[in-house]
Amino acid sequence: MADPLRLGIAGLGTVGAGVVKIVRRKAKLIEARAGRPVTISAVSARTRDKDRGVSLSGYDWEDDPVALARRDDVDLLVELMGGSDGPAKAATEAALEAGKDVVTANKAMLALHGPDLARAAESRGRVLRFEAAVAGAIPVVKALTEGLAGNEIDRVLGVMNGTCNYILTRMESAGLSYETVFDEANQLGFLEADPTLDVGGIDAGHKLALLAAIAYGVRVPFDEVELEGIERVSIDDIRRARDLGFRIKLLGVARMTGRGLEARMSPCLVRADTPLGQLEGPTNMCVLEGDESGQIVLRGAGAGEGPTASAVMSDVIDIARGTRVSTFGVPADQLGTVSMARSATPAPYYLRMELMDKPGALARIATVLGEAGISIDRMRQYGHEADTAPVLIVTHRCARDALDRALAAMPETGVLATEPVALRIETV
Ligand SMILES: NC(=O)c1ccc[n+]([C@@H]2O[C@H](COP(=O)([O-])OP(=O)(O)OC[C@H]3O[C@@H](n4cnc5c(N)ncnc54)[C@H](OP(=O)(O)O)[C@@H]3O)[C@@H](O)[C@H]2O)c1
Repeated sequence: MADPLRLGIAGLGTVGAGVVKIVRRKAKLIEARAGRPVTISAVSARTRDKDRGVSLSGYDWEDDPVALARRDDVDLLVELMGGSDGPAKAATEAALEAGKDVVTANKAMLALHGPDLARAAESRGRVLRFEAAVAGAIPVVKALTEGLAGNEIDRVLGVMNGTCNYILTRMESAGLSYETVFDEANQLGFLEADPTLDVGGIDAGHKLALLAAIAYGVRVPFDEVELEGIERVSIDDIRRARDLGFRIKLLGVARMTGRGLEARMSPCLVRADTPLGQLEGPTNMCVLEGDESGQIVLRGAGAGEGPTASAVMSDVIDIARGTRVSTFGVPADQLGTVSMARSATPAPYYLRMELMDKPGALARIATVLGEAGISIDRMRQYGHEADTAPVLIVTHRCARDALDRALAAMPETGVLATEPVALRIETV
């Protein structure tokens, strides 16, 4: 019989316990698929005597994840503690230094240190894999690095934070405010301990940065990824967008342009009759556009015990089989540097504003847009509320710079009652 692949699992929370369950319950299936048994030698977490909902009998315990990573009876470290630095990074580095492979679900660590860790792995002939770090159960990392390896990637986009999609779709279906649904999501345990990671677009931005690195073979400077969360999306915008045939999604978009890499995670309008527009609840969707393949749409659970552990096991089984793919699809020392291009691709925009009920108010706004080179595709005025009137404008495709110039000039018209809301319309 072939030698087993021996795991050390650091982190026994939602995902770690899920991985232990799969290894225990599906030993025969995994062995058949991997061509060798996959076993667990030792585990580590903060608290030893916590009920994990799964038996840990037969596994050694290590208080220190770094010691776990260095054990002679561990071939592969499965890092499931989380956090961009601290014990997760220390254990990963220790495992690679000791000549072990690493599988992780840790998008924060990879978005900030991925290329350096990949280089450390590859310089020792080891692999570092992270399918579970992006969009849970959806095999999007594999799709990009392997399935679409023969393509130039035109665009990668998707809804990659289930909590935000839950909040936006629940606001729409129940007609509730952002604040009310945020509290609801918190009570349901949907939000991270630091909710800004979810609603501020940071968690989804990490995932987008990882996909962009694979798609374009570059080191993506995470601090230059454009991030805007859903905190300012109002029920008014959701309703008005729906009237126009759109839905609002926290959408990540990455594409290489003549000016550099555009990578943006922001609330966008998408047509309601597209797969992205119809995405409900905490589900994720990734859309990959290859020059040869055309558009590929992947949809599934983006988080949770089973879905995330499923993705971890896909990497574990690949390593057990001997499949060795570079972390980012090309060797880490060949990852290029890239300049980032802020919203370089022109797009139509949705503008909502509250105008003073004065003669010529709309004309003044149209003039400001015209002076910035922006033409209007559609416009809608709603019934008066006191002495102001809500107005919606959908522009033709325009550059974000031009829109920013127009937005900066609008207060000088003296007809704005509130700050305008501007949301990009992404064509999918
Ligand atoms: N949950 C999901 O749906 C999901 C989806 C995709 C990716 N991920 C990623 O998967 C990773 C794990 O997430 P999770 O949801 O499973 O987290 P979690 O439930 O909070 O579990 C974290 C685990 O790490 C252990 N841990 C934390 N600090 C430690 C330390 N200093 N030393 C040893 N152990 C330590 C904890 O120990 P105790 O249990 O003793 O406290 C716990 O078992 C994260 O990188 C996360 O971003 C999660």
